[in-house]
Amino acid sequence: MTIHDELGRIMRDLRISVTDRCNFRCRYCMPAEIFDDDYAFLPKESVLTAEEIRRTAEIFVSLGVRKLRITGGEPLLRKDLPEIIAKLAAIQGAEDLSLTTNGSLLASKAAMLKEAGLQRVTVSLDSLDDETFMYMNGGRSKVKPILNGIEAAKQAGLLVKVNMVVQRGFNDHAVLPMVEYFREQGIILRMVEYMDVGNSNGWNREHVVGKQELLKQIGEEWPLEPLAPNYPGEVATRYRFLDGKGEIGIISSVTDAFCSSCTRARLSAEGKLYTCLFASKGYDLRERLRAGQTDEEIADYVRGIWEHRHDKYSLDRGTQGGDEPRVEMSHIGG
Ligand code: GTP
Ligand code: 5AD
Ligand code: SF4
Ligand code: SF4
Repeated sequence: MTIHDELGRIMRDLRISVTDRCNFRCRYCMPAEIFDDDYAFLPKESVLTAEEIRRTAEIFVSLGVRKLRITGGEPLLRKDLPEIIAKLAAIQGAEDLSLTTNGSLLASKAAMLKEAGLQRVTVSLDSLDDETFMYMNGGRSKVKPILNGIEAAKQAGLLVKVNMVVQRGFNDHAVLPMVEYFREQGIILRMVEYMDVGNSNGWNREHVVGKQELLKQIGEEWPLEPLAPNYPGEVATRYRFLDGKGEIGIISSVTDAFCSSCTRARLSAEGKLYTCLFASKGYDLRERLRAGQTDEEIADYVRGIWEHRHDKYSLDRGTQGGDEPRVEMSHIGG
């Protein structure tokens, strides 16, 4: 089955947040001043169980979803993550199973995740120098443990990509060293434009380093040429190094929005469906799961939501009010 929203976009991906907690405090996502000891994280009983996650994912697959991505917060904080992965990997029709992580716990867990059925990991890393990286992640980790995690994931046979959020004045000087390092490693690095997600990161347009500026900076060092997307609606635009040493990606949600091909649904850790990264409202699936509704009833509910979807926040950025508080990135994952 394929379902279309009001703008003709199919529902092909489900991004599943398995926890709203994180051991990092990245300033663009969970600034430490706001996500402090008093912050009201979700109580355990509010969070979907492994079985509830499996069931929900299966319902989405029955509606046409083919790609599943596990996110957080930091998904590796969840003790039953291997069980969640194994359950998702067993769903017939789910072709791609990946996970987004900050990499801090990956070195010890990569092999277990691969064994459970995970195919790919995307590791977030914003700099190769400790001072900048510590500044970006709220003083929670140096660089080495993350590089060890990336290496362990490679060794375990997981496909690895690295995502770097670029913030002008904070880590833009880290771009070229990152490109050089991951080129040599044969790992695809994607630079993500700093976005105005959530309500807490104090976003400012001046801190965004746009796609064209990044391409110019990198291309002067290592000439690039565009590559076709791997699949329709791929978030990152791809470029290959003319010297043959692999490729990079740029995720340009601010300067070149990709809403017109957005096929992503998002499930929060507490079981709410969000139809956009910038949504204010989620739709409660947990109450339906726990009230004994059938898969068909829940699928009908989801289909109705998707068929009325018309979100295109990034395309409209700046032209709409958007006064309502938005969901935090740590609730629905990148
Ligand atoms: P692949 O399946 O490997 O192509 O990954 P992906 O690019 O779909 O997902 P990934 O989790 O690596 O996404 C990278 C980053 O892009 C996220 O952390 C977000 O910052 C941003 N991003 C992903 N999806 C969306 C989206 O739908 N809208 C916006 N505005 N940003 C997105
Ligand atoms: N802007 C862009 N990307 C963000 N992420 C989190 N917050 C932001 C933001 N403000 C994404 C990053 C990170 C992933 C976990 O979430 O890609 O790697
Ligand atoms: Fe944690 Fe990832 Fe958010 Fe950083 S970006 S605070 S690692 S969830
Ligand atoms: Fe999709 Fe919303 Fe991102 Fe646009 S802003 S690409 S609609 S999630």
